[in-house]
Amino acid sequence: MRKKIVAGNWKMNTDLSQAVELIEQIVSKSTNSSAQIIICPPYPFLDKAVNTCKNSLIKVGAQNCSQNNNGAFTGEISVEMLKSLNVEYIIVGHSERRSYFNEDNIQIAAKVEKCLENGITPIFCCGEQLSDRNTNNHFDVIKNQTEESLFQLSESDFSKIVIAYEPVWAIGNGNTATPQQAQEMHHYIRELIAKKYGKKCGDSTPILYGGSCNAKNAKELFALPDVDGGLIGGASLKAEEFITISNSF
Ligand code: PGA
Repeated sequence: MRKKIVAGNWKMNTDLSQAVELIEQIVSKSTNSSAQIIICPPYPFLDKAVNTCKNSLIKVGAQNCSQNNNGAFTGEISVEMLKSLNVEYIIVGHSERRSYFNEDNIQIAAKVEKCLENGITPIFCCGEQLSDRNTNNHFDVIKNQTEESLFQLSESDFSKIVIAYEPVWAIGNGNTATPQQAQEMHHYIRELIAKKYGKKCGDSTPILYGGSCNAKNAKELFALPDVDGGLIGGASLKAEEFITISNSF
C-alpha cells in the first residue's frame, strides 16, 4: 500500500509566535493520524518546528531550497543547511516559485537532485495553468514538467520522491479540481512513471493533490484510487482544519 501523506505548505505566513502556537496545536491534535503529516513553515521557524515535533508523528519540510551547495548566493538557503536542521522534506518546483521566481524545469531538476544527494525527500510539484487546460494542453504540460525535472533520475532515486499535482487554476481560490479531473491526472502521471520506470514504481509513488483542498472536500479527493493525500496551503494554517484533513482517509 502506498504511503498516505498530508503536507502543509504555510507559504509566507505567520510570525514567530504564531508559528510556535500553530506547531504546538498541530502536534497536540495529531496523535492518532494514519497519514504521514508534514508541516512546511517558513525558513526562520524550521529549527523550532523540528525541535517541537521531535517526539511526535509529525515531520518537517522546507518550502524551497537552492540548487547550489554554498558560496556567494546572497539570500539563498542550501539543502545542506536544511539537512543540518534535520528537515526531512523539501517542496520543490511549486507553481509560485515557477511563476514569481522564474524557476524552470532544469533548475527544478537540479534542486530535486540536490535533495536526493542529501537524503532529503523532495515533494515535487507539477501543475498546468488554466490556459493550458482550456486549450487541452494540460497532459502535455505535466508530461513535460515531469520528464524534464524527474526522468533523469535513476529508478532507485526516483523511488524516493513524492509528487504533488497542483493545477495552478485551483490554488488559493476555492476552485478545487473535481474528483474526475484529479483522478484523471493522477492516473496519467502514474502511467508516465510506469512507462519510464516500470509498473511497480508507478504503483508505489505517492501522488498528492493540491489546490483548495480543505476539510470539506478532502475525504472525496483522498478516496480516489490514485490520490494519496494532499499538499495543503490555506487550510494548513488552521490546526483543527489541517488535522481534520489529515484524518480524511
Ligand atoms: P491552497 O494552496 O491549498 O491554498 O490552494 C496549495 C498550495 O499552493 O500548495
